[in-house]
Amino acid sequence: MTDEALIAAAREAALSAYAPYSRFSVGCAIESVDGAVVTGVNVENACYRLGVCAEQSALSAAQLAFGLGKVARIAVAGGNIQAGALGGEGTVTPCGGCRQAILEAAQLSGRHVEIICSSGDGARIERHSISTLIPNAFGPAHLKDAR
Ligand code: THU
Repeated sequence: MTDEALIAAAREAALSAYAPYSRFSVGCAIESVDGAVVTGVNVENACYRLGVCAEQSALSAAQLAFGLGKVARIAVAGGNIQAGALGGEGTVTPCGGCRQAILEAAQLSGRHVEIICSSGDGARIERHSISTLIPNAFGPAHLKDAR
């Protein structure tokens, strides 16, 4: 899938976000090494701290569809919904917790998972690798000494 198509999938997913409290809708699309694509959205809760980010929703879907170890590329987009389309000018980079969750998938495979961060309107993008978004991270590889 092209970068544009993966971003479009993330923007389309964001339209189904459940974000009544922040009114900030986020969509995430994850592509596997085999080209399969799953999506996720942020799902908020009246108990605010229990909300789930789009990336973590999408990672759950990825585990179910093809396994975290096959995650190859991720697109994220977020903003406001107006007239049935996702808008917003700022590029959305994953929050700290989501970076850690993506790192888990990256360390499983040893892949430099690419993260394409889009503005809500799709006009601006930034490309990052998980290793630059969360350098010197603690991951599953560090648990080799556990009993
Ligand atoms: N959010 C995400 O879904 N992903 C991120 O990486 C950043 C933030 C969500 C959480 C909350 O529902 C809303 O955006 C505002 O923070």
